[in-house]
Amino acid sequence: MEEPKNKNEPKETITRRYFFEMLGSSAIGAVTFGSAVLTYQYLSPNVLLEPPMAFKAGKPDDYPLDSVTLIPNQKVFIVREKAGYFYALSAICTHLGCIANWKPEGIEGHPEGIIACPCHGSKFSRTGEVLTGPAPQALARVQITLTDSGELLVDKGTLVGEEQILKV
Ligand code: FES
Repeated sequence: MEEPKNKNEPKETITRRYFFEMLGSSAIGAVTFGSAVLTYQYLSPNVLLEPPMAFKAGKPDDYPLDSVTLIPNQKVFIVREKAGYFYALSAICTHLGCIANWKPEGIEGHPEGIIACPCHGSKFSRTGEVLTGPAPQALARVQITLTDSGELLVDKGTLVGEEQILKV
């Protein structure tokens, strides 16, 4: 290392060679880091974590006889008929996917109440059948069972036929 020629000059100076060595090292480090990040992203599974399709919906006694209850965050209606049995319907309209609402006041010819879509006017019976379009098909019926501890368990991932009812 050179001795400073006068006292005001700093003792250590950055040489041109040293500067370019550091610049090169930094560039190699940046490229290596970027490659490592890209490799990690490539090797990591591209998994979309979705909420579980099954959920507990409380005790049967939480639902009065002859009731239709929308569980808004699950987009499911839980229907309890006068006879006491249950079934569950998806609240997702089969036209373009809006969330339908329960209208207990019903309409002419269906005073028992209807399920109505606010988007384009589709109407469904309380069993999910299409009363008026444009919905092309009935609301999906999803599985409802009872857990060992006596709670209602709805599985939106399992579609069932109209014959599936839960007697409690
Ligand atoms: Fe329900 Fe269009 S989305 S009627």
